[in-house]
Amino acid sequence: MKISILGGGPAGLYFSILLKKSRPDYDVALYERNRADDTFGFGVVFSDQTLDIFRRYDPLSHSAILDNFAYWDDVAIHFKDEVIRVGGNGFCGCSRQTLLRLLQERAAGLGVALHFNREIDDLALFADSDLIVAADGINSQVRTRYADHFQPAIDLRPNKFVWLGSTRPFDAFTFFFRETQHGVFIAHCYQYEKGHSTWVIETDPATWVRAGLDKMSEAQSALFLETIFTEELAGHRLITNRSLWRSFPVIRNARWVKGNIVLLGDAKATAHFSIGAGTKLAMEDAIALFEALNAHGDDIGASLAGFERERREDVEKTQHAANVSLVWFEHLARFWNYSPIKFAFGLMTRSKSITYDNLAMRAPAFVQAVTREFAREQEAMGLPVRGPDVPPMFQPFRLRNMELDNRVVLSPMCMYSAEEGLPDDWHLVHLGARALGGAGLIFTEMTNVSREARITHGCAGLYTDAQEAGWKRVVDFVHGHSRAKLCMQLGHAGRKGATKLIWDGMDEPLEEGAWPLIAASAIPYHPHSQVPRAMTRADMDQAKGEFVQAARRADRAGFDMLELHCGHGYLLASFISPLTNVRADEYGGSLENRLRYPLEIFTALRGAWPAAKPMSVRISATDWKEGGLTGEESVEMARLFSEAGCDLIDVSTGQTVHDAEPVYGRMFQTPFSDKIRNEAGIATMAVGAISSADQINTILAAGRADLVAVGRGHLVDPSLTIRAAAWYGIDLAVAPQYALGYRAQLSLARRERQDLADLRQRARPLGGQIADK
Ligand SMILES: Cc1cc2nc3c(=O)[nH]c(=O)nc-3n(C[C@H](O)[C@H](O)[C@H](O)COP(=O)(O)OP(=O)(O)OC[C@H]3O[C@@H](n4cnc5c(N)ncnc54)[C@H](O)[C@@H]3O)c2cc1C
Ligand SMILES: Cc1cc2nc3c(=O)[nH]c(=O)nc-3n(C[C@H](O)[C@H](O)[C@H](O)COP(=O)(O)O)c2cc1C
Repeated sequence: MKISILGGGPAGLYFSILLKKSRPDYDVALYERNRADDTFGFGVVFSDQTLDIFRRYDPLSHSAILDNFAYWDDVAIHFKDEVIRVGGNGFCGCSRQTLLRLLQERAAGLGVALHFNREIDDLALFADSDLIVAADGINSQVRTRYADHFQPAIDLRPNKFVWLGSTRPFDAFTFFFRETQHGVFIAHCYQYEKGHSTWVIETDPATWVRAGLDKMSEAQSALFLETIFTEELAGHRLITNRSLWRSFPVIRNARWVKGNIVLLGDAKATAHFSIGAGTKLAMEDAIALFEALNAHGDDIGASLAGFERERREDVEKTQHAANVSLVWFEHLARFWNYSPIKFAFGLMTRSKSITYDNLAMRAPAFVQAVTREFAREQEAMGLPVRGPDVPPMFQPFRLRNMELDNRVVLSPMCMYSAEEGLPDDWHLVHLGARALGGAGLIFTEMTNVSREARITHGCAGLYTDAQEAGWKRVVDFVHGHSRAKLCMQLGHAGRKGATKLIWDGMDEPLEEGAWPLIAASAIPYHPHSQVPRAMTRADMDQAKGEFVQAARRADRAGFDMLELHCGHGYLLASFISPLTNVRADEYGGSLENRLRYPLEIFTALRGAWPAAKPMSVRISATDWKEGGLTGEESVEMARLFSEAGCDLIDVSTGQTVHDAEPVYGRMFQTPFSDKIRNEAGIATMAVGAISSADQINTILAAGRADLVAVGRGHLVDPSLTIRAAAWYGIDLAVAPQYALGYRAQLSLARRERQDLADLRQRARPLGGQIADK
């Protein structure tokens, strides 16, 4: 077999090593345009876990790497004259030059034919190769040449960054945040070998231009940065090495394989430097390709298809984490007024893999400080405090006169179990169980303001006396037996009405018994859905009256809070999204116009709803569709609702159009809550794929939301909050009927926590053990 590798970076070299080691008879050749000892850039970082993987695949290169590494455990965050150190991170730094030299030596020792100083601009050279590996980096010519096939998408990020070095030593991965007259500069620094450190300096494009960096040479810009980071450099100089300012390209390819050509490493997908994963991804790609060849023998086609199939998800996950991380640095202004400890927590948890609980294991003092800071802020805002060391999810919250025992919320969820809109035993037991289960706030399902406003035959309503009485029964039970508060979510299905029960076909139109639909514009949801009537002013007045009547009923039934559903493509959302509102009157066009009717309803409700009771609005903060509502518009929308008296924005997304392309993942909607809360300055509730107490605490402590709603998680576990309270050892008031169960859960959780701590200690990866020596 003849294997040709284009590019002698970590991806190409490591793949050549693994392959030649296991198949010495293969003809493996690598072509690199640079000389063997050329290098651009300074250091690279690997986590303990990554090093462990390398040990398994090639112990020789692994131990050579370890002999040349700087190891550190702490992250140090320098922010506004404070230094916050967070331990337990386990990272290694190595010079890129040393890494490449070690890999080159290992490859040469195994018999890989290494051709340096060879620019490859034509793959004809490899015509007789069985496999061509394009590991030719971020500017891959192979990818460009076959762009029609690989379909690369390159997202050039706005921030500017430059990669520099210095002789200043570090004993931690260090972030410096430096405010200047031009704006904020960030330095991501780490030592990679004795007397050498990497300095990646980053700033936003406006600051970059204001500082005149767009007009400076490489040397001038290094001198300028030395004046910015004089104190931090502590007498050391910045060293340049092709240190040019760049914008980070997030690269993805729809396809990775073309015939016998495969993209590897940065050529295929990049991960932002702020999670230090570029080299890791490149080397893990090499491992995955090697494994695919092992699995399929000499069948190159099957091997490459297997590689792409098996590897894509991991790459996309890392890329997603890197993207969330880079966005955090792009939006620094949002967090600039945070206290140093809260800022540091936000930084540590930015990419979702590090959380409140896992930091508590690794850096307990830091998490204690974060928890106390949350309690301190709580007190400063005049909110009651359960105790200084109580995790954020169990701190009370207040909206107007409504006080919540904790920050966990049952998200509104249709049960499709009402007849003629009547809440019955199902609703009593379902909502009652979640209230007994400890959630601080219980939302009803979307409850419709008229018979024609229903989504399905099974949806609940609040337009008859019997329905009002049914809801009162639920409220009385919850108030009588728990500390939970109740929020009524009012809605109108609009063009998504007259559809089947979810288990018979979500959003699918009824075949029989449908009723006429109304919406902002006469656009059906699916091409085969009923075409709604574009609302006339008379329709608007009628619906407004129905909303107000329902709100009065909700107040009489004893609800503590009212939510207006303006999301998910229902009637009011159909006005807000430009995808569903093509009106030419004052209710269509600009955001202000599109919001006019939803705001009119909100204002009418605010007038009818008691001033002492809070109101929220559920929005879809993005339509996940080109031409739809954007995150920017959702901030403005939140501001306008807030001015109209809204106390909380319930931040959901999507469901506006049937062909949206949401990007799912853990806590996937939380960034929108973060944006609205910290840019519009209004309380928010985050929701969406939030499944654990750990995630809830992470979101709250980092200031990404004030309340956290759990939907599907509550469907399987009504006692999610009680269980979490036991885990954290909280003295939660549970119904006396359930108190014995809670006490047993408390002692079980104490033992489980101890077992887990012991297990983690024993399972610490090898890197940590080296550092401990
Ligand atoms: C500022 C910055 C900081 C970073 N920090 C880190 C970090 O801390 N940790 C980390 O792990 N990663 C980091 N990275 C990422 C890391 O540098 C890359 O992700 C990694 O090197 C990718 O490996 P690769 O083998 O795919 O590509 P590369 O290392 O780019 O190798 C590609 C090789 O192909 C050669 N080549 C290209 N075209 C041709 C041609 N036509 N003919 C011959 N040869 C060719 C190039 O000369 C190059 O040597 C950082 C990147 C940047 C930009
Ligand atoms: C069965 C079901 C019914 C839902 N009904 C409603 C509803 O009536 N009103 C609403 O605003 N959201 C509704 N949602 C959305 C949820 O409130 C929540 O935003 C969504 O499920 C994401 O949260 P999760 O990942 O915790 O489930 C519903 C979701 C599900 C799964």
